[in-house]
Amino acid sequence: MVDNSQPRPLLVGNEHIEPPFPVHLKGLVKHGFGRGSKDLGIPTANLPEDVVQAACSNLQTGVYFGWAQVGTETEVHGMVMSLGWNPYYKNEKLSGEVHILHDYPHDFYGDELRVVVLGYIRPERDYSSLDALIYDINVDITVAKNSMNRNSYKAFQKDKTFLQAPQP
Ligand SMILES: Cc1cc2nc3c(=O)[nH]c(=O)nc-3n(C[C@H](O)[C@H](O)[C@H](O)COP(=O)(O)O)c2cc1C
Repeated sequence: MVDNSQPRPLLVGNEHIEPPFPVHLKGLVKHGFGRGSKDLGIPTANLPEDVVQAACSNLQTGVYFGWAQVGTETEVHGMVMSLGWNPYYKNEKLSGEVHILHDYPHDFYGDELRVVVLGYIRPERDYSSLDALIYDINVDITVAKNSMNRNSYKAFQKDKTFLQAPQP
């Protein structure tokens, strides 16, 4: 059980992105904004399991960061992703739950979600309270923002997987 008594590093990864990153994920948002939204106040969008399985089966479970884009939008936002085994499928399928660092006034079930994963933050933990989990996810968000504020990470905002705004 974790109680947040240990300080965590607020910057992860090296100056340059290293293999296996970048990892690309693209799929229609399956569901999300379930417990993530109600209990945590942190909405998550779930990628289809086959997409996650194909791209992430060589990654350890835990929390990752990178960039994300939704539907026909041209903005690219930071994201944190929880990668874990979905108990519903008796631990046979990996699930990827993405929290986008942007306030959306609506949900986006059925929209295409494009994600570039650039680094690993921490392993999944078992928390003694919901508040401890929420606290740690907020630290994850700070870590993601700090870690992506480096040129080689920022460059992936223009990755070819993302729709780009038309040039004036
Ligand atoms: C960035 C991030 C990190 C998370 N880390 C953990 C964790 O370490 N341990 C845990 O039990 N749940 C963690 N969660 C919560 C679950 O993965 C999941 O989002 C939550 O249970 C809501 O799921 P639901 O919307 O499918 O119901 C994390 C979620 C996010 C978005």
